[in-house]
Amino acid sequence: MEALRWLGGYIKKYTFIIILAAVLTLIHVTVIFISPYMSGFIVDDVIVNGKYALLGKYLTILLASVAVKEITWYIRQNLMEHVSQSVIKNLRCDLYEKLQRLDFKFFVETRTGDLMSRMTGDMDAVRLVMASTMANLFQMICLGAIGLATMFLASPILGLSLLAIVPFIGVFAFKYSRVSKPQFLKVREVLSRLNSVVQENISGNRAVKAFSREQFEIDKFEKVNNEYRTEQLENVAIWNKYVPLIDFAAAMTNVIFIFVGGALAIAGKISIGQFTMMNGILWCIVSPMQMIGGFANQIQQFVASSVKMRTLLDTEPAIKNEKVTVDHVKLKGKVTFKNVIFSYDDERVLKYVNFVANPGDTIGIIGPTGSGKSSLVNLISRFYDPDNGAVYIDDINVKNIDVTTIRQNVSMAMQDIFLFSDTIEANIAYGVPDATHEDVVRVAKAADAHEFIIKMPEGYDTIVGERGVGLSGGQKQRIALARALLKDPAILILDDTTSAVDMETEYSIQETLKKSYSNKTTFIIAHRISSVKNADLILVLSKGRVIEWGTHDVLLSKKGYYYEVYENQFGDFNNAPDFEIDNYYEDEQFLERQVYRNGKK
Ligand SMILES: Nc1ncnc2c1ncn2[C@@H]1O[C@H](COP(=O)(O)OP(=O)(O)OP(=O)(O)O)[C@@H](O)[C@H]1O
Ligand SMILES: [Mg+2]
Repeated sequence: MEALRWLGGYIKKYTFIIILAAVLTLIHVTVIFISPYMSGFIVDDVIVNGKYALLGKYLTILLASVAVKEITWYIRQNLMEHVSQSVIKNLRCDLYEKLQRLDFKFFVETRTGDLMSRMTGDMDAVRLVMASTMANLFQMICLGAIGLATMFLASPILGLSLLAIVPFIGVFAFKYSRVSKPQFLKVREVLSRLNSVVQENISGNRAVKAFSREQFEIDKFEKVNNEYRTEQLENVAIWNKYVPLIDFAAAMTNVIFIFVGGALAIAGKISIGQFTMMNGILWCIVSPMQMIGGFANQIQQFVASSVKMRTLLDTEPAIKNEKVTVDHVKLKGKVTFKNVIFSYDDERVLKYVNFVANPGDTIGIIGPTGSGKSSLVNLISRFYDPDNGAVYIDDINVKNIDVTTIRQNVSMAMQDIFLFSDTIEANIAYGVPDATHEDVVRVAKAADAHEFIIKMPEGYDTIVGERGVGLSGGQKQRIALARALLKDPAILILDDTTSAVDMETEYSIQETLKKSYSNKTTFIIAHRISSVKNADLILVLSKGRVIEWGTHDVLLSKKGYYYEVYENQFGDFNNAPDFEIDNYYEDEQFLERQVYRNGKK
């Protein structure tokens, strides 16, 4: 019921068309009855009483009724198809818009294949209900009701005996619905897993081949594929169990009719013509009964699919754009972290992070892998919210700044680079669609990407494959950097952006950044000390804590962890052991005070 109410919201706009379709269905159903009536008249008047002159009239009416029947069906079918396709289009839009509004957390927790099956298979189940099930169900109810009423009028005894079958059919259909519903949910669940396996396999085809795991992947697919077959067979088994029962009950109406109707005819209570007519009408009662299982089936599929879609539509993004006091402004780029504690699930990945970055500062963030560097910068763009403490941009809590405004002012070259299957130019201009070619070339030059781009077969118009297939790691990084630079943000975040380029290129990129982009607050995440050496403030992270901070020289003079890594690991934190933190750093008051000290650098 809830599913129908939900769908009702989408259908409302098309009420007029649906009423028109219902009227056409009523006309369609009414003219269906002309045929058995004419048959009855032909038997009584023409065959039994020999009024041959009437034959032509009856046949003409018969022919006209068939024509009206087909025409009404045709128009109704088209109308309902129009409604269903339009509703599905709107529904698809809503789902897609929802996907745009959901945040990192949702996409981390949801399988792509699952989402794809909602956008395709589930969508189709909903469409089918609108395009055919609803109209056919209405038609069959009218047909059965008028059929039974006609029988009643002709002979109440006959009508009553046929009506006796209806409760049986009702019970069987109800039971079928109850049993089949959880099974449909199961089928859809396995189907989305099947989609996920295929999708992941295609996306990860390089990894599969690199590790020669083809057989493993085939086996994995086989397993889900088998499971899908089993669930579908179970589905069919349920269907096969109830359909004969429903069919049997429906067929009983024939037996009852022959028995009761025959007795009435023999007793002379009805004429042979009436008997023939009723025999024709009987079909109008039997066929809705037979089809009831099919309707229940389609409706249950629809309910199962709609549950999944409604869940998605009801999912609220974790990041809400509420309590916004600042909107549409150009931010200056001061970034403050005050006692920031952050965890993805239960495990804390950032603990008491405090620092101030003034507009134009370059902040280096360095630390072993998994120390929380990417998590830290993700809080600036408000991809996540901290559990405790707060992040401020220009001294305003990011929770009070419109999310779009933040993201217009913060540009990020992410560690996990995503390139669309489009031209290089379109990929660079992704954040600024109205950028000119000159703008694109300018940032490509700054990112040291111009040289390799013009050497490509189509230059800036070269289409890169999905996720940037066909480009080297360093090339992808430089395109991502150019893309981030083009946005001309107040805050620029480069997450591991130059890790795959050689030192010399990295140096030249940094020089350009210093020259042309010095007014931006820049966060450089790196594992090589050489990448952050010139930063105004370097934060050294280990296990989610800022364990040391200061400029390169200050950090060296501390002769602590940073110094050790610089001396012993060739300045590369990737090979560095985690810093074992003593309890001193657990002291909250001590850590709270650091914000001011850090702020002064
Ligand atoms: N989406 C996520 N859900 C749950 N845990 C996560 C998620 N992303 C990261 N983590 C965990 O949070 C911790 C910090 O991860 P983060 O990506 O911030 O590290 P990092 O310093 O950027 O590492 P790297 O140098 O390898 O990029 C890690 O222990 C990681 O396993
Ligand atoms: Mg990272």
